[in-house]
Amino acid sequence: MKITINDTYVDQFIDQKAFGNNILSAKKALASLLNSDGKGNEYLGWINLPSEVDTALIEDISKTVELVKSNSKVLVIIGIGGSYLGSKAVISALTSTHHNKFANGKGLPEIYFAGTDLSGTELTDLIAVIGGRDFSINIISKSGTTTEPAIAFRVLRRLMDEKYGANNYANRIIATTDKSKGALRNLSTEKGYKTYVIPDDVGGRFSVFTPVGLIPIAAAGADIKELIRGAKSAQIDLCDDSNENIAIKYAALRNTLYENGKIIEILCNYEPRLSFIAAWWKQLFGESEGKEGKGIFPASVDFTCDLHSMGQYIQEGPRHLMETILRVKKMPHDIPVPSTVDNLDNLNYLSSKTINYINEMATQGTLEAHVSGNVPNVIIEIPELTAYHIGYLLYFFEMACGISAYMLGVNPFDQPGVESYKSNMFRLLGKLS
Ligand code: PA5
Repeated sequence: MKITINDTYVDQFIDQKAFGNNILSAKKALASLLNSDGKGNEYLGWINLPSEVDTALIEDISKTVELVKSNSKVLVIIGIGGSYLGSKAVISALTSTHHNKFANGKGLPEIYFAGTDLSGTELTDLIAVIGGRDFSINIISKSGTTTEPAIAFRVLRRLMDEKYGANNYANRIIATTDKSKGALRNLSTEKGYKTYVIPDDVGGRFSVFTPVGLIPIAAAGADIKELIRGAKSAQIDLCDDSNENIAIKYAALRNTLYENGKIIEILCNYEPRLSFIAAWWKQLFGESEGKEGKGIFPASVDFTCDLHSMGQYIQEGPRHLMETILRVKKMPHDIPVPSTVDNLDNLNYLSSKTINYINEMATQGTLEAHVSGNVPNVIIEIPELTAYHIGYLLYFFEMACGISAYMLGVNPFDQPGVESYKSNMFRLLGKLS
């Protein structure tokens, strides 16, 4: 079973002719991506990544992970933006929310992320969690110069200096970076760290199927072969100019809604494990489309929790919203609602039901309510929460993003706006140019 798009709850909001025209424009955009004749065409390496991941790379990553497992209780992943969100999203989707609690018992390292902020408190807390235990670091930075991860790396290397002795821990550091340029590449060569390459033609937010994503995901015990198998299957389906292509359909639907004033898209999940898929998706679409005064604003909510915080606005606030629902048909676990003799909470009517069934009814009830409140709902139906389907899902979003940005007429693969905060910060910090 494959991932599908259900547009039943969008039909009433779109003009079929406009949608038909957008399908044609999405097909043109796909052709441009495949023919490499559009904007940013030097960054199209992600399109063929799934079919290019070979056995040698998977085996190499497995060996690296085995070394980490043998010498460390903790693995710290240092990276920001596209250098961490993909692996964080996949690990959160495929492992227990409490993975770290049980990791060592399964022979796996606990996984923590650092370099995602400039908080001395966060880093202090992380150092306390590592405590006296053995740890390794996977530092991920394509440019090798990004401030947040570079500072975290400096601090944690100082911790390693103290713990293992300076120049005595090269076997605990894995650097994922550019093949030849940048400070991290130079440092790795100098210190003899194990390195992996981020291909020149793959931008950060499209890099989850490179070692950027694959090493942390494998270290968390998730099945990277299955992840790639899913992505490969999506590559075959979604590089095809057919009416069944769900990337074309999704891009056309969201752009038709955008033209009708739906300028904010909320990605909604009903499973906490999918929360970071939304964080990854927000970066993918936000950084790729939001330029030249254009772009749908990507937002997200975690339902049913956020129905108790954001539900009111979505139901009755300004009507500039569309929702895209991640609906998983089969979750790995479920629990029946117990019956009680006294029934003081009046919930015995649910006692033959499971929590997942109740969640499904909440999903259906919410989407009907929001549609009747004039919020169109696109539903992405995911058969099962497996590595295969997550691989398929992420590739689908990447392809839909490339198509959608080309439909808007922007370059999906640059991020000139990100430089403004950096140059102000460097000026304020007195950096010498
Ligand atoms: O998508 C992108 O290109 C960015 O989000 C980068 O991944 C992010 O800024 C981190 O950059 P780097 O990997 O060079 O440290």
